[in-house]
Amino acid sequence: MATIVVADRAGACFGVERALSLVDGVLSAGGTPVHTMGPLIHNPQVVASLEERGADAVDDGAIRGLPAGDRLVLRSHGVVPEVADEAAAAGLEVVDATCPYVKKVHRAAQRLAAEGYEVVVVGQAGHPEVEGILGHAPGAHVVGSAADARALPDARRVGVVVQTTTEKGLLDEVVSELLARFGEVRVHNTICEATRERQEAAARLADSVDAMVVIGGKNSANTTRLAEICAGRVPTCHVESASELDPAFLAGADTVGVTAGASTPATQIHEVVEALEAMVGEGR
Ligand code: F3S
Repeated sequence: MATIVVADRAGACFGVERALSLVDGVLSAGGTPVHTMGPLIHNPQVVASLEERGADAVDDGAIRGLPAGDRLVLRSHGVVPEVADEAAAAGLEVVDATCPYVKKVHRAAQRLAAEGYEVVVVGQAGHPEVEGILGHAPGAHVVGSAADARALPDARRVGVVVQTTTEKGLLDEVVSELLARFGEVRVHNTICEATRERQEAAARLADSVDAMVVIGGKNSANTTRLAEICAGRVPTCHVESASELDPAFLAGADTVGVTAGASTPATQIHEVVEALEAMVGEGR
């Protein structure tokens, strides 16, 4: 019978737990309709279950059309400042579930811009968190690689902030490119420890098992990165729920490791672990 081992750091981070608990409180209180600004977290199952409970995800274009008095929950990975302004103008009650660590990036970007730095955001272009950061430092440049850093326009002073889920290796590469090009480089390392801890725990576990199962949204950048880290070490499957598990994948594995992205609640991890245990039990 295969042994199932869960990584010692896996699943929902502080910011996601906080956002879920805020929206849960709002829904439980009853009252006016509840909406979330985009998906609350990158987890389709959680977003669907919130919708079933009455909190639908809306995009920023829809804010003006919402009835005054409705409640709007701002997602954990942040929004551009205009969203809160528009919501206030539309008479909505805003519940801010932005992770405090993401807010720290917003403040750092804002300060750097105000102090005259050319602001560089190290992260993934187009990611909602990065869009939110750009909204706090208009004109900032998104850099996703050392090559992007080399392509930046000339500037006297460059100030760097980092998407919270970025790998430290990428930040180091970008900073060394910037140091070679610009007279002054000020770096705010705003990488969130939750991401690093989960990546290191996943790599440690993957090195000690025969196969890995990674749980979390396929649209979640940090979960996808966990799957890539594990796949570089052992056969790995990335699932959003237990229904996607394939018993054939477990054949021949004596130990199976499990990890989950920062947007995966504990309930989803338990469901998958229970299903895995049932599968390896049946396979005896
Ligand atoms: Fe916040 Fe870090 Fe999670 S920035 S949302 S605690 S991954």
